[in-house]
Amino acid sequence: MRRAPSLAAIVVVLIGASLLVLIAISSRGHHAPPPPAPAVAENAGISAGGVTLTSTSVELPDDAATFPAGPNVDLVNQRCLSCHSASMVLTQPRLKPEQWTAIIEKMRDAYRAPIGDGEIPAITDYLVARQQTPPAATAR
Ligand code: HEC
Repeated sequence: MRRAPSLAAIVVVLIGASLLVLIAISSRGHHAPPPPAPAVAENAGISAGGVTLTSTSVELPDDAATFPAGPNVDLVNQRCLSCHSASMVLTQPRLKPEQWTAIIEKMRDAYRAPIGDGEIPAITDYLVARQQTPPAATAR
């Protein structure tokens, strides 16, 4: 499970390479600019062989993890969250009940979402009641 050389190994290699370059420069009496110092500083990352490894913190967008409360919400959470987020579903352009039903059937038929026939009306009712896009809005 070795994914990258250890920090100590990289530092040793960088110091060794720097010494070799310095020796080569001084023995020629030539004034070349010194090689850039190895970038081993906190949060600055590690550079070696033209590759820089940095650690980054990522701010994820504020995204609803589950569907907001309402009738049948447990069913919708169980059937609709394994592939995408609740907000992705609820911020679609506003849909009529039969359009929601068609989407749910598409999720089942095209993407193999595990949805029983008897569950489709309850999921449709929930989505019609909870969709968040105002009637006139053009989404996206
Ligand atoms: C098995 C995975 C899976 C499940 C479970 C699932 N979906 Fe999807 N859904 C997808 C995929 C794949 C897309 C297409 C995404 C894209 O086109 O970028 C999608 C897209 C959508 C869209 C966007 C409109 C469209 O037609 O592409 C809506 C709305 C949606 N799903 C609603 C639901 C609802 C409601 C449920 C629960 C009943 C559900 N999904 C469950 C996989 C799933």
